[in-house]
Amino acid sequence: MARKALIAANWKMYKTPAEAKAFVDAFLPLVAGHARDEIALFPSPVLLPTVIPACKGSNVAVGAQNIHFAEEGAYTGETSILQLKAVGGTHTLIGHSERRQYFAETDEIVNKKLHTALKHGVVPVVCVGEVLEEREAGKTASVLKTQVTGAFVGITPVAAKPIVIAYEPVWAIGTGKTATPEIAADAHSIIRAEVAKLLGADVALGVRILYGGSVKPDNATALISLEEIDGALVGGASLKPDSFAAIVKY
Ligand code: 13P
Repeated sequence: MARKALIAANWKMYKTPAEAKAFVDAFLPLVAGHARDEIALFPSPVLLPTVIPACKGSNVAVGAQNIHFAEEGAYTGETSILQLKAVGGTHTLIGHSERRQYFAETDEIVNKKLHTALKHGVVPVVCVGEVLEEREAGKTASVLKTQVTGAFVGITPVAAKPIVIAYEPVWAIGTGKTATPEIAADAHSIIRAEVAKLLGADVALGVRILYGGSVKPDNATALISLEEIDGALVGGASLKPDSFAAIVKY
């Protein structure tokens, strides 16, 4: 089954509204008519009301970097799925390693957020990945299995269809150290096998697994063209229109 690649930009905590608008104005013409892959931008919440209208009618989707699992409530500083939908966001990252590392997100929280996104028809991009010590201790497979199992508690095969997974080895994020295509493909196979175990072969064959971690224009082709790798989640190299467009057109 051919899986359409998703090439996604995680802008993290960068850009003002003016900078975000300038990015979109420069980026859209560079990818106009590009239909081979899906393209998505994940800006900070405060940028969504600028970026979403600017991308309207284009081939570029826009989502949040994080949502709360509750639909509304007394959760100071958080963004709800209803707020995201109200401004036109269609996707959300869930469980990015920076959320896990700095904001104590556990597999249980990731699971609750995944249920919320699916309930509201927002495409979830669930991030998993091992830290360096885990890789060096030979624990990569068990860490990935635990994260995938934890994220998918209570998710049925039918509900799972829209889910995208991003494999982001933490040691490769923002370090310039990219996983080799072999390391990435190996991890993706482990993740896909775990999805098959939990939700069956059909879901596993259809689920897109993106690679993230120091993806740049010059290594994108080697990674994304592999059968096991269904796109990329790009941090640093997604901040400039020409660099991100070059990755989209790997
Ligand atoms: P870098 O591409 O900057 O390594 O970031 C990867 C990432 O965390 C994307 O979510």
